[in-house]
Amino acid sequence: MANLQKPILSILLLVSATLTVVIITLLTVDETPVSRLYTLDNLNFTHSGEHGLNLTFLKLENKNKFSFRYIENPSHKCHGTAFLLIMTVSAPANVQARTVIRESRGKIKRISEREIGQIFVMGMPDNNNDLGRLRSESTSYKDILLIDFTDGYRMLTLKSMIMFEWFTEYCQNVQYMVKTDDDILIILQNLISFLKSAPSTGFASGFLRQNGKAWRNTKVKNRASITQWPYPMYPPYLAGLAIVLSRDVVIRIHDISMYVKMYHIEDVHIGILFALLGITPQHSTRFEIEEIKACDKLCCRGDMIAIHFGRAEKLQQHLKDIKFVNKTNCV
Ligand SMILES: *[C@@H]1O[C@H](CO)[C@@H](O)[C@H](O)[C@H]1NC(C)=O
Ligand SMILES: *[C@@H]1O[C@H](CO)[C@@H](O)[C@H](O)[C@H]1NC(C)=O
Ligand SMILES: *[C@@H]1O[C@H](CO)[C@@H](O)[C@H](O)[C@H]1NC(C)=O
Repeated sequence: MANLQKPILSILLLVSATLTVVIITLLTVDETPVSRLYTLDNLNFTHSGEHGLNLTFLKLENKNKFSFRYIENPSHKCHGTAFLLIMTVSAPANVQARTVIRESRGKIKRISEREIGQIFVMGMPDNNNDLGRLRSESTSYKDILLIDFTDGYRMLTLKSMIMFEWFTEYCQNVQYMVKTDDDILIILQNLISFLKSAPSTGFASGFLRQNGKAWRNTKVKNRASITQWPYPMYPPYLAGLAIVLSRDVVIRIHDISMYVKMYHIEDVHIGILFALLGITPQHSTRFEIEEIKACDKLCCRGDMIAIHFGRAEKLQQHLKDIKFVNKTNCV
C-alpha cells in the first residue's frame, strides 16, 4: 500500500503544479495580444512620411489608455467569418437616422458570399430616460456599441480610437473595417465589389485630402492654433465620411495611437497616424463629400460607394428609392 501511494502522490503533485502554472499563464495573458507592434523606442516621429514633418511635439511619454467599459457590446457581429464590419458613428439622439439605416443597408447580411456585420457606435446620453430607451433599442437590434463616456462632438477623436481598440480586441478575423457616419449613404453592392479587388493588407482608402490646410481663422469650427499644429498643411488624410481600412492597418493604428497626443480634428488625427506608420492612404473617386458632385436630384453616379448628404431627411428620401444610385435608370 505505502509503496503504491508514493508514486500516486507525486503524480498528483506534478499534475496540480502543472495546472497551477497553466492557470497563472492564462490569467496573465495580455488582453490585447496583437498590440505589441510598437514601443516608444522604435517609433520615429521626426520627418514622418514623404512630407518630412517633425511630429515630435505629438509624442506622449506615458501611454494613452483607451480602456473604457462597453455598456453594450455587440461583439457577436465579429464571430465567424465576417468579411467586413461597418462601424457607423452615431449619437444617442439620432434614432431616426439609425432606423433609416436599419431599414436599408442594415438589412443586408451578405453580398456575393461576403459576410457583412454592421454596428452603431456611441457614448452615453446625458440623462437616464434616454439611456433606458437606448438600452432597449440595443436589446431589440443588438447592433449598438455603447461606450462608457458622455457622447459629444468633442469626443470624436477619442471615440474613433476606442473603435479601433474594440475592433482590435474582438474582430481579429474580419478582413476590412469601414468607419462611417449616420448621415452618409453607403452603397453596399459597390463597396463589396471595391473590396473584392482591394489589397488585403496595408490598405486605407476613401476621399483623400491632399495638402489639407490648417485653418487659423477663429471662426472656423476646425481651427488649429500654431501650438496645436505648427505647419501650414496637414499630412494626407481621409475625409471622415467613410474610410476603408484593412484589418492590419486598424491594428497598427490602434497600437501607435497609444503613443500620440490626440489631435482635436478626428480625420486629421488618423492622417497623422498614417504618416507616422508610413501608410499611404489612397484616393477613390467613388467617395464624395459634396452630394451635388455625385448626384443630380434623385439620381447618383452608378459606381458611388459613399456620399455625404449632411441632412438626414435628404438621405431618407434617397434611400426610399433604390433607383437613385444609377443615373441611367432614373433620369
Ligand atoms: C527617422 O526618420 C528619418 C527619415 O524619415 C531619418 O532621417 C532619421 O534618421 C530617423 N531617425 C531614427 C532615430 O531612426
Ligand atoms: C523635432 O522637433 C523637436 C521639438 O519638438 C526637436 O527637439 C528636434 O530637434 C526636431 N528634430 C529634427 C530632426 O528637426
Ligand atoms: C448600375 O447600373 C449598372 C449598369 O446597368 C450595373 O452594372 C450596376 O450594378 C448598377 N448599380 C447598382 C448599385 O444598382
